[in-house]
Amino acid sequence: MEKLKIFNTVKDTSEFLTKQSSDGRTIGFVPTMGALHEGHLELMRRAKLENDILVCSIFVNPIQFNNKEDLKKYPRTLEDDIRKLESIACDVLFAPSAQEMYPEKEKTVYDFGNLDKVMEGQHRPGHFNGVAIVVKKLFDIIQPDKAYFGEKDFQQLVIIQTLVKQQNLSVEIVPCPIVREKDGLAMSSRNKRLSPEERKLAPIIFKTLQFVKNNFHKFSIEEINKHVVSEINSNPGMKLEYFEIVDKKTLSPITNLIGSKDSIACIALFLGKVRLIDNIAIF
Ligand code: PAF
Repeated sequence: MEKLKIFNTVKDTSEFLTKQSSDGRTIGFVPTMGALHEGHLELMRRAKLENDILVCSIFVNPIQFNNKEDLKKYPRTLEDDIRKLESIACDVLFAPSAQEMYPEKEKTVYDFGNLDKVMEGQHRPGHFNGVAIVVKKLFDIIQPDKAYFGEKDFQQLVIIQTLVKQQNLSVEIVPCPIVREKDGLAMSSRNKRLSPEERKLAPIIFKTLQFVKNNFHKFSIEEINKHVVSEINSNPGMKLEYFEIVDKKTLSPITNLIGSKDSIACIALFLGKVRLIDNIAIF
């Protein structure tokens, strides 16, 4: 396929992609909320390599925002996004309206046990149910063979893997490493909202996580927590929301660093009015 095809309706998208699948082409899918950056483009390049057709969706999903201001301020840069999609030879963009995605009020309630109660789930009530609803709908429409998700949203990735298991979906979820700016800041659409002063402070987040990874064996969990709180909160405009070292599968907090396997340190904080998250694998 040469030119980016843009669809706004479920019907057109599904008709086109069903035909592609029945002609034997595999579909790689990257769902996004737009404001595309290099992190998204990395997911897409990989999806392009591993599949016959690359489909991207851009939809700022209102039901996953627990904060109205965050939804209002979420960057929307469709024209620029389309140029980026063309530059990496994306085949299909699905960019529906809220009315198209939610013709009726959505009532589904998923049960992910503990997974959506901790960290992001605790601070953003309803967020993961909204994510699960939209991702399930997108999978139903696109019917991808593989779908690509960044590890920056680690909890989201674990919940989507669980959704796929619970619903017996045939899509393969492909986790992709975090893409960082040269100074270590994890790429995120929300970075666009940082002031120049805030942007200068932002690399402290990754530096703090690296300190945790490199020094965890020297300290107790309490000492590590104390260090992170003071590293983050001592900067003007930075306010830690949570820092947790959790098991990668269960997302339950690790109580003893010695001997614990497969854990990941996750952080969420406000930098001015912008909420940022990041993480680093400890083992
Ligand atoms: O990670 C995101 O950008 C969103 O949560 C997703 C997966 C596109 C669902 O709206």
